[in-house]
Amino acid sequence: MDILELLGSREARWRRTLGPRGVLDAPLVDRRDELAQLSDALTALAAGRGGTLALVGDAGIGKSRLIVAATEGVNVTTILEIGGSAFGLATDRPALADLCMALREIDPGRHPGISEATVENGLIALERQANAGPLLLVVEDADRLDEASVAALPKLMALAQWLPLLVVVLARDPLSGELEQTLVSATQIRLRPLPSESARALIAAIAPDAKLVSFYVLT
Ligand SMILES: Nc1ncnc2c1ncn2[C@@H]1O[C@H](COP(=O)(O)OP(=O)(O)O)[C@@H](O)[C@H]1O
Ligand SMILES: [Mg+2]
Repeated sequence: MDILELLGSREARWRRTLGPRGVLDAPLVDRRDELAQLSDALTALAAGRGGTLALVGDAGIGKSRLIVAATEGVNVTTILEIGGSAFGLATDRPALADLCMALREIDPGRHPGISEATVENGLIALERQANAGPLLLVVEDADRLDEASVAALPKLMALAQWLPLLVVVLARDPLSGELEQTLVSATQIRLRPLPSESARALIAAIAPDAKLVSFYVLT
């Protein structure tokens, strides 16, 4: 068997659909409080109020799954995801620069003047789009986000203070120094591990035939 290494990919650093990539999907287990917090923010967004939320927790704890659950059935004009991508590098452009191309593609009539994909233009396009209606921007895997986009996060958050723009930043725990500083004014939602009963329920939902064995008991 040949084993190939992925050195790069042309995958754009944005997409319209949210959620974990290429993994099993199961009905949401637990997370009622966190879901309520996100739902409240989305309700406020629909009423015209934005803001910034940080969804922080270990890898695999369920950050991406939770934001999907929160947006189910929500009627927001535009939902966009940008972020550090999982494998290889996406385009060599910053994610926020890709965002202006994304908005041009989604709503071509609204962004006629934008020709160059730069972070500045990304912010301009975002401001214009949010002025046209509520917009949810999910920044996935922010711990792996490119430097230029991380540096522009304060500007993004400033826009979210007065526009119907909700920025939800998903990042691993612990936050890096720069992210931590940037997100200090954001509402933070920390995801803890699921209680073992819930973890078992989740495993049973994914693999109904699995025989669950306890390997150790915490004392
Ligand atoms: N509360 C939950 N209910 C159901 N599935 C979950 C839950 N939390 C995590 N998962 C599943 O576990 C996997 C990892 O979750 P994910 O959201 O990708 O984690 P993260 O984004 O924090 O790295 C996914 O397949 C996801 O659907
Ligand atoms: Mg994730």
